[in-house]
Amino acid sequence: MKFEHVLRSNQFDLKKLTYLFSLADRIRTFNATKSGLMYLNSLLPHKRAMLFFTQPSTRTFLSFQSACHILGMQTSDIRDPNTSSERKGESIEDSLRTFSSYVDLIIMRSPVAGLCERIANLLDQTPRSVPIINAGSGPDEHPTQALLDLYTLNRCFANTDGMYDKTICMVGDLKRGRTVRSLSYLLANYQKINIIYCSPYEFRINEDLRAFLQQNPQITYTETSNFNEAISQADAIYMQRIQDEYDTPEDSLKHIDTTKYYLTHDHLAMLKPECKILHAMPRRQELDPRIDNDPRAEYWSQQRNGMWVRTGLIAMLMGIDQQLI
Ligand code: NCD
Repeated sequence: MKFEHVLRSNQFDLKKLTYLFSLADRIRTFNATKSGLMYLNSLLPHKRAMLFFTQPSTRTFLSFQSACHILGMQTSDIRDPNTSSERKGESIEDSLRTFSSYVDLIIMRSPVAGLCERIANLLDQTPRSVPIINAGSGPDEHPTQALLDLYTLNRCFANTDGMYDKTICMVGDLKRGRTVRSLSYLLANYQKINIIYCSPYEFRINEDLRAFLQQNPQITYTETSNFNEAISQADAIYMQRIQDEYDTPEDSLKHIDTTKYYLTHDHLAMLKPECKILHAMPRRQELDPRIDNDPRAEYWSQQRNGMWVRTGLIAMLMGIDQQLI
């Protein structure tokens, strides 16, 4: 199963998701033995990836870099636009076209919404296009985070009818949190999903996502500011930090009190016994570290799951997935 680029989460249908998740499971089993890991390492030593990350990132960067290394790929990176020729006035298009001549895959995170698509379209018109993976495009989309979130949910619910008839409660900055939009799109691939979007009024989901939900009746959704009621109904809670990097002097939400939406240790008693707690990370005060040892906390496994899903995705993009099945 092949992709050209990974730009948005609506590129994934149920068949592709199921295939990717089974690939991630297979990669885990290869990784469990030295010979398996050496086999993974032998698959792509002749290929190079570039990580172009001009928006802050630690886990997504390292998770992708590790995924490349697991498959034996060499990696190079740009993290500071000041060290690239953009400083000399070069356009971002020229910079990325130049980088693409040295590598076989570009993984990019940028504060600019839609930039990945622009670059992918540009490269597709050149004689040597390489796949682009969107690792976060401004407040817009973060498809691979959504894939790892969904992989985690699938694993959590493996013994209970899978994703069918589950209530997912998303809490926090639903307006600017790109992972919320990307995950909502992916959830539309399942039947009888109920999403509760819980936030202060000012942080509600954007109109584009609301319109999408209205066109997808297999998802029911509600928007609420009643935190206790929302979390007590959930089969999974998806926490999201306030994305204040998008505040500007003219358009700021800094003054809004969000403390009512913090998940604390005291809330655990009101959750369903099997409720799963996820967070895209990094976290701030919205998720109490005293929850970390509760069996319902999934956010640490979620991070490791990300590495396996990204390894699977790169295997698909580079056309070696059949060697893993
Ligand atoms: C998320 C992001 O960058 O959108 N983090 C991540 O990739 N792990 C969420 C966030 O920064 O809050």
